Amino acid sequence: MSDTSPVVRLRIPGTSLPEEGGLPPESNVWVVGDEESAIVVDAAHDHEAIARGLGDRELMAIVCTHGDADHVGAAAALADLTGTPVLLHPADGRLWEQVHPDREPDAPLLHGEVLVAGGIELRILHTPGHTPGGVCLYAPELGAVFTGDTLLADGPGATARFFSDLPTLAASVRDHLAVLPGETAVHPGRGESATVAEATARLDSWTAGGF
Ligand SMILES: [Fe+2]
Repeated sequence: MSDTSPVVRLRIPGTSLPEEGGLPPESNVWVVGDEESAIVVDAAHDHEAIARGLGDRELMAIVCTHGDADHVGAAAALADLTGTPVLLHPADGRLWEQVHPDREPDAPLLHGEVLVAGGIELRILHTPGHTPGGVCLYAPELGAVFTGDTLLADGPGATARFFSDLPTLAASVRDHLAVLPGETAVHPGRGESATVAEATARLDSWTAGGF
């Protein structure tokens, strides 16, 4: 029987890429809702594993924190399996196209929008920097924010690619995440969870080469 807690973490292993050498990458998929219905935050790697994690709950939406392949790879298959819409910020459309050239997302995900999953409100925060269309989902009543690769347990997500930008990422975190209560749980797209206070402790050093 699947876990019907308000927040469930599914750790979904990916396939190892030769250029990465090491362990197969693992992404976090977050299921948020109640025992009746839920949303999936990111649909990584394996739609069948995600469907098993949902159990009998009705899936209301597949919400993409950003368009990277290791977070949207199973989104189209999960959408087809469940008849559920995929939501993505339009600024990550080109990343999505690289993974799913024959299928567009179903609806744009925009800053200020509020989604409801099993009675739980999730506020969309546009937080570019890791990717242009990165978003976080803040659930005040859960005291939690789902951050994708924008904010990891120990600091910012990667900003080495041409469309990434560390100062932009730092500004997004400063403006939208560091202002949340310090004890707010940060549930990232990879790795362990932390609090906002822990994950942003070195924020001032980010743009000074701290990461
Ligand atoms: Fe990413």
